[in-house]
Amino acid sequence: MFRRSGPTDCTIAWEGREIPARAGEPLAAALLAAGIAAFRETPVSGAPRGPLCLMGACFDCLVEVEGVPNRQACLVPVTPGMRAAPQRGARGAL
Ligand code: FES
Repeated sequence: MFRRSGPTDCTIAWEGREIPARAGEPLAAALLAAGIAAFRETPVSGAPRGPLCLMGACFDCLVEVEGVPNRQACLVPVTPGMRAAPQRGARGAL
C-alpha cells in the first residue's frame, strides 16, 4: 500500500510493537508505512477506520498518544520513543 521513500532515524511504539519512523514526520505517515491501516474503531459498531484526508479535516485518524485520546495522527509529529495506540470507541472524559 504505502512504502517509505527515505531512511528512518528512530522508533515509536504502537500497542507495544516497535515501528520504524522518522522524527518530525506525521504519526499517520509512520503507521501507514509500517502497514497499519486501522487507527481507530467507531463508537457504535466498532468498525475499523483509518486516515482519509491526511490534512486534519476528516478525524478518521484519531489515536491515543502518550495516553491522551482524540489526537489526529495526521497532525501529530513523531518524536523518538513516542507511544501510541488505536482509539477504541468514544474517548473518555478528560
Ligand atoms: S486523516 Fe483526516 S483528520 Fe487525519
